[in-house]
Amino acid sequence: MESGRTSLSAFLAQESSTIQAEYRSNLPQLILQLSTAIKKIAHLTSQGALAGALGSLDSQNVQGETQKKLDVFSDDILIETFKKGGLVAGIASEEVDEPISIPYTGEQKPFLTLFDPLDGSSNIDVNVSVGSIFSILPAPRGREPALADYLQHGRKQICAGYAIYGPATMLILSLGKGTHGFTLDSASQEFFLTHPNIQIPAETSEFAINASNERFWEPPVSRYIAECKKGKTDVRGRDFNMRWIASMVADVHRILMRGGVFMYPRDTKDPSKPGRLRLMYEANPMTFVVEQAGGLGSTGRARILDLAPESIHQRVAVILGSRNEVERLEQYHRDDDVKTKLNSPIP
Ligand code: AHG
Ligand code: MN
Ligand code: MN
Repeated sequence: MESGRTSLSAFLAQESSTIQAEYRSNLPQLILQLSTAIKKIAHLTSQGALAGALGSLDSQNVQGETQKKLDVFSDDILIETFKKGGLVAGIASEEVDEPISIPYTGEQKPFLTLFDPLDGSSNIDVNVSVGSIFSILPAPRGREPALADYLQHGRKQICAGYAIYGPATMLILSLGKGTHGFTLDSASQEFFLTHPNIQIPAETSEFAINASNERFWEPPVSRYIAECKKGKTDVRGRDFNMRWIASMVADVHRILMRGGVFMYPRDTKDPSKPGRLRLMYEANPMTFVVEQAGGLGSTGRARILDLAPESIHQRVAVILGSRNEVERLEQYHRDDDVKTKLNSPIP
């Protein structure tokens, strides 16, 4: 503890009684390991071109996306940290085809970590905020994890959060009892609690969506956005503002700080993909922190944390943020599904 400020490790010690007994001794340790990796990635991003960290590689990830150098550097840092840390039985990353399971040698390693090592890759080269998103799940006991062990639904997360590398580096995390924000003090290289118990306002007048996809949206999304854009004189009775940063961490961070709704909905752009964002590395952990701050996460038709994952790199529709807006969008999806059913020919 430094004069009146609560460091991340002091916070974890204070929260100890809220952590499930079986994870009490090692979850704080795992989070501190993670925070060390985050500091390394923060340093790389802040050095930008000086660290040789900008630009693309020739390689693609399993999802066919061109990898940026920083995607791979961040991925290596996180994988190394967790492998060396000795608390993790398995690792799954957006950038790696198959989960990396650590052979079981008789010593129980309690956690699985899943992560998007660098979120918002398209913003790296233009010096706009990027981040890392993480999810911590329980590992199976007494054996090496199999693929099915990683496919746990979002409610099973023990801890989740993200780091944002912006004007300030912040770590936002939830251990399942509220969502808390820490800011990296660049002088001491320590994270301090600056945003305890973040609360997302239930009402908002701000939405975030990639509007260039409008022609591919489903009717409930088009209806919601059209109503927001009509503003004061229409059904919403107030004017709305729009923001789209194209880094999920930055858009969701804004929502945690002042409310709003973030959407990457299902659309018809590429019928083979049920959404753009990944369930295990993006949707689940971000929904966990948003819901622990009083918000909601939904696909429009189902709650994200209730989804049964089918594959490790699965994509889903994401609607996330202020509770009343997410519920309104769910209602619009229900209305539209009823209409579609009524209009479909009787078999
Ligand atoms: P990633 O960089 O990990 O692939 O994720 C990018 C995601 C997310 O951060 C962002 O909200 C969205 O993709 C941006 O998509 P568009 O380029 O379609 O705006
Ligand atoms: Mn991402
Ligand atoms: Mn990524």
